[in-house]
Amino acid sequence: MSRHSWRSFITSCWRSTKEGSVTETKKPRPIPKSPQRMSYYDISSSGTPLSPEDLSLSLPGSNLHVFTLAELKAVTRNFSTTNFIGSGGFGPVFKGYVDDKLRPGLKAQHVAVKSLDLEGLQGHREWLAEVIFLGQLRHPHLAKLIGYCCEDEHRMLVYEYMARGSLENHLFKRLLASLPWSTRIKIAVGAAKGLAFLHEAEKPVIYRDFKASNILLDSDYTAKLSDFGLAKDGPQGEETHVTTRVMGTRGYAAPEYLLTGHLTAKSDVYSFGVVLLELLSGRRSVDKNRSNREKNLVEWARPQLNNPQKLSRVMDRNLEGQYSTKGAQKAAAVAYKCLNLNPKKRPDMRAVVETLEPLLEMNDVPIGPFVYTAPAETENDGRKEMDVKTAAKVNGLKQRVPNSAVRSEATIHMDSKGLYRNSPRHHQSSRRQNREHGV
Ligand SMILES: Nc1ncnc2c1ncn2[C@@H]1O[C@H](COP(=O)(O)OP(=O)(O)OP(=O)(O)O)[C@@H](O)[C@H]1O
Ligand SMILES: [Mg+2]
Repeated sequence: MSRHSWRSFITSCWRSTKEGSVTETKKPRPIPKSPQRMSYYDISSSGTPLSPEDLSLSLPGSNLHVFTLAELKAVTRNFSTTNFIGSGGFGPVFKGYVDDKLRPGLKAQHVAVKSLDLEGLQGHREWLAEVIFLGQLRHPHLAKLIGYCCEDEHRMLVYEYMARGSLENHLFKRLLASLPWSTRIKIAVGAAKGLAFLHEAEKPVIYRDFKASNILLDSDYTAKLSDFGLAKDGPQGEETHVTTRVMGTRGYAAPEYLLTGHLTAKSDVYSFGVVLLELLSGRRSVDKNRSNREKNLVEWARPQLNNPQKLSRVMDRNLEGQYSTKGAQKAAAVAYKCLNLNPKKRPDMRAVVETLEPLLEMNDVPIGPFVYTAPAETENDGRKEMDVKTAAKVNGLKQRVPNSAVRSEATIHMDSKGLYRNSPRHHQSSRRQNREHGV
């Protein structure tokens, strides 16, 4: 196959008419009929220019729809602010709705339309990488790309809409209820399966931008990887790594990759370790608002991960102690291994899946939260005091159930017979919360 610059492909898009039809005069390039995944290199550097339609057809098994700008305007109500979901490095994202009136056979569904910010840092290359990788890769733990738009300078991506947004929003935005332990493990396992699939593909893919904001969650908290703009084809044949310009996100990128630009699947494994640590701790990989010692999550947490006595300091307080102690120790051990400074000592993603998946079956999560209402309070100098007997009972409970949420701010109801009971309201709400969180 002769090699040309991928700029030729851009040119063909820029010549497209407003309706998205292409006014390219050269004969269309013969479309390879290989069932094997086409690499970014195959497409971006090959042959005569590809029109948007050719691109869609040349991606084996992609079934991608090519939309016009006018169609995506209609789908998103002219990119209205009410449809705005959020914005990242690529540009703004809008919610929309498509059905078979737009294209025969198109499933009626909500979509997320990501539009390239023409003033931004990303561009055609990232858009093309997304179309090439996500257009061909299909897996339950990868976001589904439905189609794209390439008209004049406009570049858009149309994805299946993910009802729960990103993991980043759930972990770090105070507006959302804290994720329960089992949902966190479900997300970790799902994301690990997505990465394992990429690494084990016939032509392996290195994802390169594994982070909480790129893990999207559907209505039952199934995790799906999105954003393949930085993805790279893995090393081929005898190669041990791919050499690239260092790109990615601070706090997630593997140290050896930052130092040398050498990229391997083990760079993704390191980033997975960082996200797993974020899931356990509820802390961001880099948090400028914390003290110097705690700013960098990995540096602060790593020494405590392999120490069962110290692990509870790392665990997210919002879990209120409601996690499996053994499960947390196992997950922390996985994170510790993934974060090894020597990439060769990190596990591969298959081993990570195999270690984390059984944690979903562990049912030693303490019940709770306990809600304590001091039954014999006396007013003393305007301060409320718990009577000594009650305080002793609470302390006893704390010792017997160290991982429960029996804490100073928690309450336990005492009924008329003087028996301590967990608040039934809290039991119901934690059951409901679990259901809502896909457990
Ligand atoms: N398919 C989707 N369904 C629902 N929401 C989505 C979808 N894709 C992206 N979003 C939301 O759109 C917003 C922007 O996402 P985007 O991936 O562009 O940026 P980001 O991941 O926050 O940042 P970065 O550019 O560093 O990847 C996020 O809030 C994300 O949750
Ligand atoms: Mg993203």
